Amino acid sequence: MDVTLKIFRYNPEKDEKPHFDTFQVRAEPTDRILDILEYIKGHHDGTLSYRRSCAHGICGSDAMRINGRNYLACKVLVKDLGTDQITVEPLLGLPVLKDLIVDMDPFFEHYRSVLPYLINDEPEPEKERLQSPAQRERFDDTTKCILCAACTTSCPSFWANGKYVGPAAIVAAHRFIFDSRDRAAAQRLEILNDQFGVFRCHTIFNCTEACPREIQITKAIGEVKKAIMTGRVDYE
Ligand code: SF4
Ligand code: F3S
Ligand code: FES
Repeated sequence: MDVTLKIFRYNPEKDEKPHFDTFQVRAEPTDRILDILEYIKGHHDGTLSYRRSCAHGICGSDAMRINGRNYLACKVLVKDLGTDQITVEPLLGLPVLKDLIVDMDPFFEHYRSVLPYLINDEPEPEKERLQSPAQRERFDDTTKCILCAACTTSCPSFWANGKYVGPAAIVAAHRFIFDSRDRAAAQRLEILNDQFGVFRCHTIFNCTEACPREIQITKAIGEVKKAIMTGRVDYE
């Protein structure tokens, strides 16, 4: 089949403002959008810029906006889009550096702000810190995040104010808040109770729909809100 790709282009070294370039290429319905971008870069325009690494939905580097929705370009197939007219744009809400590449620094600043690592200063046990299967299950879903930013950059609250910590950072916080081995839940909940914290979420669900790992993000956010409101963290 023939597909038409309309791709957002911006080179800060020579363009005053962004524009779209259109490419017509042959594609199989089972081709991934990343395959088509690679073809265009290899055969039509070597200056086309985007991030990619693993090409298998693991590294999280090729999140972009495709036909108005965030996807990993390596995980979405032509046939998934249900059309031969495909528009590809950079993620919304982060500064565009070049073409489909956005500046991820603000995203990772939010991520770092929630202390996304295990904190426990108690004396080390002789063996491991024990945890029951139910306690491990409690935060299993939020361990799956690959930090692709598809969630945060699909959130209207984040678009309205980039100071909002955003769903990805809350997912990272959730992963440690509900870990029975961690001792910094109160500290993280205080950080997330800030004016740009978790209550900026108005339960819009775009984040959950965009997540390529199918993490129940809105549910996790609700659990963090509840922990703040009740002052209680349930580990099972
Ligand atoms: Fe990406 Fe999902 Fe993690 Fe958000 S929660 S950064 S969409 S993997
Ligand atoms: Fe935004 Fe997701 Fe909440 S889209 S408003 S963080 S449910
Ligand atoms: Fe690694 Fe798509 S290139 S997730």
